Amino acid sequence: VAIRSAEDAPDLALGEDRTVPERVEILANPGRRAAPPEHRRPDPAPITVHRRLPGYAATPLVRAPALAADLGLSELWVKVESARMGLPAFKVLGASWATYRTLVDRLGDEPEWADVGELRAALAPLGRLTLVAATDGNHGRAVARMARVLGYGAHIFVPTGTAAARIEGIASEGAEVTVVDGTYDDAVATSAARAADDVLVISDTSWAGYTQVPAWVIEGYATIFDEIDEQLDGTVPDATRPDVVVVQMGVGALAAAAVRHFSTRAELVVVEAAHAECGLRSAEAGRPVEVPGPHDSIMAGLNCGTVSVVAWPTVVAGVDVFVAIEDGAAERAMRELASIGVVAGETGAAGLGGLRALVESDTSAVELAGRAALVICTEGATDPEAYARIVGAA
Ligand SMILES: Cc1ncc(COP(=O)(O)O)c(C=O)c1O
Repeated sequence: VAIRSAEDAPDLALGEDRTVPERVEILANPGRRAAPPEHRRPDPAPITVHRRLPGYAATPLVRAPALAADLGLSELWVKVESARMGLPAFKVLGASWATYRTLVDRLGDEPEWADVGELRAALAPLGRLTLVAATDGNHGRAVARMARVLGYGAHIFVPTGTAAARIEGIASEGAEVTVVDGTYDDAVATSAARAADDVLVISDTSWAGYTQVPAWVIEGYATIFDEIDEQLDGTVPDATRPDVVVVQMGVGALAAAAVRHFSTRAELVVVEAAHAECGLRSAEAGRPVEVPGPHDSIMAGLNCGTVSVVAWPTVVAGVDVFVAIEDGAAERAMRELASIGVVAGETGAAGLGGLRALVESDTSAVELAGRAALVICTEGATDPEAYARIVGAA
């Protein structure tokens, strides 16, 4: 483990305008295996359902040559999830697929449907249900949106300190929002206790005895990567296809989806928020370990102290490097993405922040010079006030 700070490594310039030293922690994953666990791709693929949902369109894949040159890379691709099916983050891909699979399971049979009107009619025998989730913002809003689309109720639990704009975003979907006195992990426990016959818990994290829904959430994220393949296929030479893939990690569902898609053709880098680096600590310990709160990074989507138990075996087997960054690295990356016209919120920019931290460290954990990298801007300006403060007007 290399622990670097701007104080003892003055060449590690994270955020030109910050005076507070920033710490970066890098771990070459000791658990990486040559072949991560096999998984069966769902058939039909989640993208076939996503395409029939309101507002679906493939999100942009942007080539960023100036940033690539600055980072010493041959190519930098940015998949931009700042607007996905009318919401400011990628999370609706998992929430919608998991909700759909849960309902089809209840129904007993997959109905035929062409649009949401037909889907609602097919689901009518299930009666009126309420969807419940815990969230640091994006997943809960996505579940609330699915409830609205299907004509159901929604009750979303958020941890103390959740930005008002994120709470308002969830409420704007017609959901009841409850602030739980505690961390994200406490909000998860509170939401789990709500399960009932007519109340479905749609969680993106898993725990002992609750694994099926979060496994579907991971499946749903495959759409991001299927789209990337389609966007690159036949249009770019092989040499410019990404062979380093960087993803943010909260509980690890997105990272697990990335591993499934890329682990045989790219090196995988996971970026976490320092003080909520449950992936890095678990990889180091050789088993899932909790990082206690408070988790108060501005990278709200990464403020998770516990890995998802269904995601973890895939993540630990397939990730090459874990990087934990502090807030200044995300802020700088927000400004860098803004400079190429990409609106990235704090969590959304964290992938680029972690990539720069790796480039600027002297770690040998991953060789980046001349490589083609992919980062995912996982969210837009979900807290517009903070965005304006950090970047300027959106
Ligand atoms: C914008 C954003 N990016 C990344 C993540 C991390 O995803 P996961 O919790 O699946 O690791 C989250 C989680 O909430 C998020 O909201």
